[in-house]
Amino acid sequence: MAKITASVFTSHVPAIGAAMDLGKTHEDYWKPVFAGYDFGKQWIKDHKPDVIFLVYNDHATAFSLDLIPTFAIGTAADYEVADEGFGPRPVPKVIGHPDLAAHIAQSVIQQDFDLTIVNKMAVDHGLTVPLSLMFGEQDPVKGAWPCPVIPFAVNVVQYPVPSGRRCYNLGQAIRKAVESYDEDLNVHIWGTGGMSHQLQGPRAGLINKEFDNAFLDKLINDPEAAASIPHIDYVREAGSEGIELVMWLIARGAMADVAGGKPPKLAHRFYHVPASNTAVGHLILENT
Ligand code: DHB
Ligand code: FE
Repeated sequence: MAKITASVFTSHVPAIGAAMDLGKTHEDYWKPVFAGYDFGKQWIKDHKPDVIFLVYNDHATAFSLDLIPTFAIGTAADYEVADEGFGPRPVPKVIGHPDLAAHIAQSVIQQDFDLTIVNKMAVDHGLTVPLSLMFGEQDPVKGAWPCPVIPFAVNVVQYPVPSGRRCYNLGQAIRKAVESYDEDLNVHIWGTGGMSHQLQGPRAGLINKEFDNAFLDKLINDPEAAASIPHIDYVREAGSEGIELVMWLIARGAMADVAGGKPPKLAHRFYHVPASNTAVGHLILENT
């Protein structure tokens, strides 16, 4: 059977991708950001997943305001890297896992979550920056990401957005779906986006270290409490784009302890300000 063995949580700041693509990672500003991912880069080599179920948000790239799915699962064989205005990032295209994705879609929809099925889409920084942070630089043509990825896009851009509670419950359904797939696969689930940031309006530049660290504490040790945070608290405390954090609850909801298993092991915790306009957070949790 397939098994979710670990969850990885990380911010997806687009400037991090640009720093990698433009060879700036050794600049003083960026060094401490990338140092926070040294552990994860080694860890993922030692715990290589067969498939990554990657929860992220599209930033009006694949989905314009014409069509806004709340939860969209990628069932394609591959995904082009999006052009977000400066040309596509120089990273390999993303290979999907259509068979597992179709199985998850079937199971999760039958568990009463209405997913949108996506057979073709380009993936933006929300998905490629987390891959770059964990797997390092890859040749865009000769290189390849080390494993297939199932993109799972969540609307956190256009209101109304899903609650943290719904995301947490959805994570539990995804876990059941993965663990009812016949093939022996080591699956990681990633929750990405956040942490506190606001990109526009009078509060642009808002960062809230206290909220972020309390969120990390809750996510690790008391995910029920994290799932109870109402969406207005994210927006008030973590800024309008801080709402991206609800995506972390999908990955956390898929961990074994939520279904009565043992608490996960905290393999790594990292928090750093600033990176562009955003507080960067990163956790690795292992099922034990
Ligand atoms: C920034 C952060 C984001 O999450 C994003 O999607 C776009 C920009 C920023 O920090 O500038
Ligand atoms: Fe974002």
